[in-house]
Amino acid sequence: MEKSKQKEELINEFLSGGAGGALKNLKKFRELMVRYDCAIREVRTKFEVLNEELSFRTSRNPIESISSRIKSPESIVEKLARQGNPLTVDSVKENLNDVAGIRVICSFIDDIYRVADMLAQQDDITVIEIKDYIRKPKLNGYRSYHMIVEVPVFFSDSKQVTRVEIQIRTVAMDFWASLEHQMKYKKSAADRPDIAAELKSCAEVIAATDARMQGIRKRIEKLESEL
Ligand code: GTP
Ligand code: MG
Repeated sequence: MEKSKQKEELINEFLSGGAGGALKNLKKFRELMVRYDCAIREVRTKFEVLNEELSFRTSRNPIESISSRIKSPESIVEKLARQGNPLTVDSVKENLNDVAGIRVICSFIDDIYRVADMLAQQDDITVIEIKDYIRKPKLNGYRSYHMIVEVPVFFSDSKQVTRVEIQIRTVAMDFWASLEHQMKYKKSAADRPDIAAELKSCAEVIAATDARMQGIRKRIEKLESEL
């Protein structure tokens, strides 16, 4: 079957599934997406508050920028199908951790751990999973700190605990990940060990630079404290 056709059929199956028919399912799906959107806003606000407070205390911004996204219906259906999970709205809640995604770009490596720990300690946040690809980079050189958390979203008549995927990385790690992401879909490069090795080597140069930049900052802080 043609690939785009296949996708279309999967989405149709998803939207018409469940008891009560298509419209009911669509409404339920939209409601779930609202929930994810609210959860993103809550987590984003938490990081913004941490940034404000830390920048007041330390006279610099540990967070450079924050971006977020909700997974598209196409990607949701495609991932459920790839996992072999049912194409239903309940299955989205149960089987996907990354429908709500937030990316936090920090200035320095130690800022990543500082904001991650501060978030994790907040009593309405439950940490479900941590993947530290900074201490243990992926084989291709990818570095980033990943957290899956649950945050309660309060609606008029209910409290809905909702999962959010958080990626925290430095500006330099983000630069590498963005370009690598663009290039990894190029078929001609898929099986080229020389290109993979070159990309990995770039990641290592970047990691070394991140460490040096942090070293410079620490030296300056020491000088300032001695004044
Ligand atoms: P996915 O099913 O792809 O979401 O992976 P996972 O459930 O094993 O989670 P993981 O924490 O490894 O990756 C989650 C997300 O991190 C991905 O969806 C990407 O956005 C990002 N990521 C992970 N590995 C890489 C990588 O090698 N390169 C880039 N550019 N991004 C990556
Ligand atoms: Mg993902």
